[in-house]
Amino acid sequence: MRSSYPCLLLCVCLGVACVVGVCVWNAQWRGGFAWDGSGQQFNWHPVLMVSGLVVLYGYGAVLYRVPLTWDGDKRPWKLLHGGLMLASLVLSVVGLSAVFQVHAGKGIPALYSVHSWVGLGTVVLFATQWVVGVLVFLLPCSPVSLRVVLKPVHVWLGTSILSLSVAACISGITENLIFHLNEVNGTQYVTLPPEALFANSLGVLILLFVLVVLRILSNRSWERPEPGLSQGAAYRPLLQEQRMKGQKKKKRAVLFHTRYFFSYLVV
Ligand code: HEM
Ligand code: HEM
Repeated sequence: MRSSYPCLLLCVCLGVACVVGVCVWNAQWRGGFAWDGSGQQFNWHPVLMVSGLVVLYGYGAVLYRVPLTWDGDKRPWKLLHGGLMLASLVLSVVGLSAVFQVHAGKGIPALYSVHSWVGLGTVVLFATQWVVGVLVFLLPCSPVSLRVVLKPVHVWLGTSILSLSVAACISGITENLIFHLNEVNGTQYVTLPPEALFANSLGVLILLFVLVVLRILSNRSWERPEPGLSQGAAYRPLLQEQRMKGQKKKKRAVLFHTRYFFSYLVV
């Protein structure tokens, strides 16, 4: 089995590059940052959305694929996984409030674009996933059978929301370049000025980061081995038990049919 570390290192580097890229874009071409209802307040929106709902999210998602987390009690890693997701939720809520405030201050209607619909839907799904994650996987009173049923749904929804988040980022970058270059700056997007070249590359970088995260998550051999000891993995023996019950049933059925066949021959 190949180690997951080279892939995880690539993931960390691409994530850092995304955060640096989105900060440089807004500092270099958009006048930097402020919290005063101006265009500089808007600049927090892409920075916080990319840092929170893409990079921190991606890091939190691949946490269980770090071999260091495989030994011993799973609870500290669960807390870190949930904590990283909470931090990313907080960053995205602040990022959303930046753009909502700017729009309200300038009298721009809210939620008119496909970007805003997909974006808000993504954040709502993400918040729901977090609440359900805490209730089901963290609270000791949640039944094991519920964990067994919800784990595959949790993993599927987690990877799907990450893909939705990329869709929101790509549409946001495109929309922003069209607005800013064509209407504010007077330079045309189609002439591919340096800012457009940079922001387009940022979009590609975000895509690459998420592809690496999805690659890491899709590799079954990098999953935490099943120790059957930690409390978090308590539902795994249960699954095995269920599987064994199924196998016993099959054996009994085969035995019954063989007996029936021989008694038929004798009679
Ligand atoms: C996961 C990432 C993102 C989410 C969830 C998201 C979400 C949203 C939402 C809900 C709005 C609507 C605000 C309102 O109606 O007042 C909005 C507006 C906007 N966002 Fe994003 N955004 C994301 C990333 C980005 C990025 C990376 C950019 C690039 C600059 C961007 C550019 C814009 C622009 C230009 C607007 C104003 C126009 C509009 O409402 O469509 N967004 N975003
Ligand atoms: C919005 C928040 C969340 C998202 C997007 C999310 C996403 C994910 C993803 C993508 C995985 C798959 C990881 C893998 O296959 O290695 C996963 C696994 C898991 N998550 Fe979350 N998660 C969130 C919140 C939570 C919370 C709050 C908890 C509670 C502690 C939690 C507990 C777990 C557990 C127990 C697993 C299974 C790990 C395993 O045994 O393979 N998640 N999550």
